[in-house]
Amino acid sequence: MARQSILLTRRLPPQVEARARASYDVIDNPDDRILTPQELRERAHNGKVAALLVCTSEKVDETLLAQLPDSLKAVATFSVGYDHIDVAACKARGIMATNTPDVLTDSTADIAMLLLLGAARRAYEGDRLVRAGEWKGWHTMMLLGVQPGGKRLGIFGMGRIGQAVAQRARAFGMRIHYHNRSRLAPEQEAGAEYHASPESLLRVSDFLCLNAPSSPATRGFLNSERIALLPEGAIVVNTARGDLVVDDDLIAALQSGRVRAAGLDVFANEPALHPGYAGLPNTLLLPHLGSATIETRDAMGFTALDNIDAVLAGRAAPNPLW
Ligand code: DGY
Repeated sequence: MARQSILLTRRLPPQVEARARASYDVIDNPDDRILTPQELRERAHNGKVAALLVCTSEKVDETLLAQLPDSLKAVATFSVGYDHIDVAACKARGIMATNTPDVLTDSTADIAMLLLLGAARRAYEGDRLVRAGEWKGWHTMMLLGVQPGGKRLGIFGMGRIGQAVAQRARAFGMRIHYHNRSRLAPEQEAGAEYHASPESLLRVSDFLCLNAPSSPATRGFLNSERIALLPEGAIVVNTARGDLVVDDDLIAALQSGRVRAAGLDVFANEPALHPGYAGLPNTLLLPHLGSATIETRDAMGFTALDNIDAVLAGRAAPNPLW
């Protein structure tokens, strides 16, 4: 029987690509350039692809789906977030869409803690001072930060990653509060205090960690009105999606000190960055590194292939989105 063909829209870790090649005819993207919709269409048609393995860099919308060949059975994203995929349009065409939950929970929660601690303890300013040769020696008032221990951490979005952040933050002595679409069972809450409204959560968030997916309900969530509800000098962390934040409003609050510091791993329109962030000393910025560990990226690739294998073999996908 002829081997089926799959399109990898980006370069993937070597072991993941090797496994893909062992099972399928692979149409790859050796330059790792983000392909235009037209290039995606051409490659998909030339290879009569049965599956696309995409990343968050590719927008799989209704228009693109309508132009892909009938041979297409699966769109597997190498990510837990799937705001770049029109799942309803996939469903309407009978194309299974899948994601990679669970395997990146720990690495993303680790990055949230790194940003939380780095923002609270002024890691960017300290690093800059040392590298610039401007460090004149230890003194008692140099780069004083704030202590997370005993403070309230507000988690907006208490799914797998939010819960993993809570687990880590407890070890730092933080008191956990959260808002989620639905309240968690007591064993999952593990003592965290539930807030039925985001506004109630914001009022107690000495630290605010955004962990909700991007959706019409969460886009633009952190705007100036909501920032005004935070305690004076709160610290904001975002490892979810950049469009949860209204950049102009957060930047103004960081400039005035209303928000003491921020740690951001994700940005609206990334890799383009709102120019206001670059000059802010009280902001620790990372280039979307949440899942960027060797172990996690391998696991994400293998999970995406597990999903493709299942769909193309006529089995249920382990991580279906519809
Ligand atoms: C995801 O999986 O959604 C991440 O943002 C990619 O690291």
